[in-house]
Amino acid sequence: MDLHVVSAAARDVDANWLIVGVPENSPWSDELVALDNALQGQLSRLREAGDLTGKLAETLSVPDTPTLKSRRLLLIGLGSLADLSVARWDKATMTAARQVSAKPDTRVAVCVPDQFGSLSADRAVEGLATALVVGSQGQDLYKAEPSRFPFTAAQIVLPPSREVGAASLASERGRILGDAINLTRELVNRPPHEIYPETFAARALQEAIPCGLMCHVFDEHRLEAERFGSLLAVAKGSDRPARMVVLEHRGGGPHAPTLALVGKGVTFDSGGLSIKPTDGMLTMKCDMAGAATVLGAMTAIARLKLPVNVVGYCGLVENMLGGKAYKLGDILTARNGVTIEVHNTDAEGRLVINDVLSYAVDHGADRLIDLATLTGACVVALGEDVAGAFTNNQPWCDQLLAAAKTAGEDLWQLPMFDAYNELLKSDVADCKNIGGRWGGAITAAKFLEKFVGGKPWVHLDIAGPAFASSNKGCREGGATGCLVRTLVEVAVRGQS
Ligand code: BES
Ligand code: MN
Ligand code: ZN
Repeated sequence: MDLHVVSAAARDVDANWLIVGVPENSPWSDELVALDNALQGQLSRLREAGDLTGKLAETLSVPDTPTLKSRRLLLIGLGSLADLSVARWDKATMTAARQVSAKPDTRVAVCVPDQFGSLSADRAVEGLATALVVGSQGQDLYKAEPSRFPFTAAQIVLPPSREVGAASLASERGRILGDAINLTRELVNRPPHEIYPETFAARALQEAIPCGLMCHVFDEHRLEAERFGSLLAVAKGSDRPARMVVLEHRGGGPHAPTLALVGKGVTFDSGGLSIKPTDGMLTMKCDMAGAATVLGAMTAIARLKLPVNVVGYCGLVENMLGGKAYKLGDILTARNGVTIEVHNTDAEGRLVINDVLSYAVDHGADRLIDLATLTGACVVALGEDVAGAFTNNQPWCDQLLAAAKTAGEDLWQLPMFDAYNELLKSDVADCKNIGGRWGGAITAAKFLEKFVGGKPWVHLDIAGPAFASSNKGCREGGATGCLVRTLVEVAVRGQS
């Protein structure tokens, strides 16, 4: 996509779709009034007729605009300007980008209003560039006639008097974030016969090298030598061998602390011998979303050349039911020596990332974040659109929650009281891999806590928001790429 920031009057911009935001309940800006004049009062008439309300993400298309240089106009409601935030701006711009990307070869231009409520000018441009990249990419990778087409060209239009310099940098950042989100989405959306541990690792290498990331792949022999006992147990039921991908970005120099990002990469979760019913298994290609989010975020962190040290880890296995599959009652010895009695082979994610977390801790991680589509219980607790956060260190979690807020993404913290540990006790081993019926998202987090060696750590359960069952006006169904932006924002803040 050819992306440019220009400073011009809306009527002089040449595109086949011109997108203009309209506020609710506040006077129109000079630019909007000028556009209305160029349209001979058509916008005022639409407003008077009640067709143009400015309600958030409400759209109105004007298919023929002979008095403008652009062929068509899409008006998009911004809601009250005083309430405009990163998240609301994202909703409006994503809705617009999705609507005008239904045909190939679209050249789009979007006017950025001069007033943003609480939204800074640079964030607005950055967010818009991301929305243009993400909103025009569909999940229909295998359709003869796709329903969405990446834009050929996009212009971000500032009012005539504004400087283009800072906005150009912001739009470049936004494009990098958009590409990262689309990489995460693509990997999650691809079917499990294409994406399995070896192919995920190969793709990670292929994406990482041009970004300037160091990338190492551990095969099953290396994982064995490094004592990844519980991760390898999960992999036993599959003909596809396990892998771990390590992605290193050393922008901070030898004395700066290292942030570790750990992702659950179960490329397909059948449940193993505790097999899932058909409905529950249908979307389990999404169970590597944590790993794909780590890969996406790492490519953005590297391309943005952030002056921080970040290492990404993807723990990759397929959870299947082959003749060598791990069984109920098996006792696994994790990398850090903790013994685990298996009570349910469908609680496999925690048996994968526990070993990866302990490896990261032993190899210099000062702070950790893991991302995992870990529990249905988290979706029951918080719904499909909100990720759960769990921590052993409140100040570190507060930093992450603040970054999510800046990035416009929803996270909600759940408690980690000591009493939950009782539920994980086993009669024969140090612990079992499930905590019973109640509080399942929390007992999963308490299980992981045993493997981080007391280092500041936040676990993010993305079982709900990582994968959407259907399309919405403001986002495509399938993989969402959620939390890529939040992870990058955490790394940006790591500078100070
Ligand atoms: N991958 C699933 C969790 C999941 C559920 C992700 C729905 C996305 C959408 C995980 O491995 C799993 O099966 N968890 C079990 C845990 C249980 C056996 C303790 C669950 O949530 O039922
Ligand atoms: Mn499972
Ligand atoms: Zn799983």
